Amino acid sequence: MTQKLAITITVNGMEYKKEVEPRMLLSDFLRHELGLTGTHVGCEHGVCGACTILFDGESARSCLTFAVQADGHSITTVEGLAPDEDNLHPLQQSFWEAHGLQCGYCTPGILMSMVPFLKQNPNPTEDEIRHALSGNLCRCTGYQHIVDAVKLASEKMK
Ligand code: FES
Ligand code: FES
Repeated sequence: MTQKLAITITVNGMEYKKEVEPRMLLSDFLRHELGLTGTHVGCEHGVCGACTILFDGESARSCLTFAVQADGHSITTVEGLAPDEDNLHPLQQSFWEAHGLQCGYCTPGILMSMVPFLKQNPNPTEDEIRHALSGNLCRCTGYQHIVDAVKLASEKMK
């Protein structure tokens, strides 16, 4: 049996101390060890973007990251996005209002990609939004409503 390693990770503001096998992916750690199933797993090789989380505030693919690499770091998942139980993050609210999702499988990854994008580029053009979305695959929407939702969020967040 592979020896487990002790790690300390902050996820959505809470510190967790766990022992994990070195081969455990961060996406599996979040879903299976912490029960945070909002982080979705699609392709498991870095293509679809469904597993995107924030790693020290930057978008990262959790299926391309080992849990041990997050030792000592701060992770935010989609569960940590809303300010409280009664309010959505403006990006989530905009996806609701602009019909930016259908099945929702891609949505957590898209939200976690767009949070840092809007921080860096608070007033994006449609082309810039489409470029920023190019790493996230959606099988349902045709993207126009997603683009509209991100634009709406940029206006709400001004
Ligand atoms: S599951 Fe990670 S990029 Fe597809
Ligand atoms: S809403 Fe279904 S994959 Fe995007």
